[in-house]
Amino acid sequence: MTIFSVQSTLFTRASVALLSSNGLKRFSFASSFSSAAVYSPPLPKTKKRRFPIVSAVDIGGVTVARNDVVRDDDPTNNVPDSIFSKLGMQLHRRDKHPIGIIKNAIYDYFESNYAKKFETFEDLSPIVTTKQNFDDVLVPADHVSRSLNDTYYVDSQTVLRCHTSAHQAELLRKGHRRFLVTGDVYRRDSIDSTHYPVFHQMEGFCVFSPEDWNESGKDSTLYAAEDLKKCLEGLARHLFGAVEMRWVDTYFPFTEPSFELEIYFKEDWLEVLGCGVTEQRILKQSGLENNVAWAFGLGLERLAMVLFDIPDIRLFWSDDERFTSQFGKGELGVKFKPFSKYPPCYKDISFWISESFTENNFCEVVRGIAGDLVEEVKLIDSFTNKKGMTSHCYRIVFRSMERSLTDEEVNDLQSKVRDEVQRKLNVELR
Ligand code: DAH
Repeated sequence: MTIFSVQSTLFTRASVALLSSNGLKRFSFASSFSSAAVYSPPLPKTKKRRFPIVSAVDIGGVTVARNDVVRDDDPTNNVPDSIFSKLGMQLHRRDKHPIGIIKNAIYDYFESNYAKKFETFEDLSPIVTTKQNFDDVLVPADHVSRSLNDTYYVDSQTVLRCHTSAHQAELLRKGHRRFLVTGDVYRRDSIDSTHYPVFHQMEGFCVFSPEDWNESGKDSTLYAAEDLKKCLEGLARHLFGAVEMRWVDTYFPFTEPSFELEIYFKEDWLEVLGCGVTEQRILKQSGLENNVAWAFGLGLERLAMVLFDIPDIRLFWSDDERFTSQFGKGELGVKFKPFSKYPPCYKDISFWISESFTENNFCEVVRGIAGDLVEEVKLIDSFTNKKGMTSHCYRIVFRSMERSLTDEEVNDLQSKVRDEVQRKLNVELR
């Protein structure tokens, strides 16, 4: 992968301010990097835009200019305006929003079971270094999550965090030992009712000292693993009531052993979080040689969709009163009543792909044109001809959650999609 290191001084200053001052006042990594580990060149920036361009956002009191994050002059940059506009939204800090309600319910659980033991952080800047996002948590150099296809890069050394684990090491170095970090995380991905390029995660972290486990007579790792499971089973019961749950062994670069917790919900096993006993190297980097720690990361949208019966992840971003008025502070688990189901409109598009083609890039083009009017993008056919050319046929489902779309409007969107995929993705329409 070619890495460019163009960096304007303005951004350097902005990012230093964000990285250092904002803070202290989201696949599970195991499974959701679904896309292939290929290098995909960032998409050329479009001139015609459907949405007004936001020129600056406020992230926890710090103003960040668009031109420092959406950069036409840096070939590594792949942040579109639609993503930039989400940067200061912090849905997790709205007490009447399902994401905020769940966050508060988790805080309540920790407060009642571990009074005052866990510090909470919820306005750490989502703009982080690649060191924070990857290196500090031991993500291997060739891990797919580092690709431009999966992560939003501001420049070669700065990304929009793809998980709240990005803050573990920094907080440890600053002396914090037990904490919860909540924030918006960003991932390039496909489009369907449970995937959106911005979502929210909460990270939990707890460091133990020898006196904690010595008394138990247990080995430190076993002690931490048991404590972790007890804590998270309690949390799942706090949120879901008396549900059936199971632990599944998995892999994360930052923990060993690593687990996922699944709960039985609506006749299916649902993965709700990833966790494990922190790799000793992470603790060592922060001068914690004689300690052991556990960590977990959970996706708040995933929990909220289940607890509130929210059928489509786009709804979290809706300002429609018919959505927002259904939730109240502290009201966990109120069931969402769909105000109406507007008709979907299906459009197919077929093209010969080029070598650099990726589905995430295609989805970004569609999202850039249709915004939240696109519900799903699905590969419905793929074949390779005798000459070795591969054709893909995608079905795009357009549907508004707020109104009926007109034929004219959908045709217009589809025609823009056809134009832009040719122009930006180097594919040949069929
Ligand atoms: N960062 C992981 C993800 O985004 C979730 C996670 C798993 C966080 C295990 C942790 C952990 O702290 O220990 O998929």
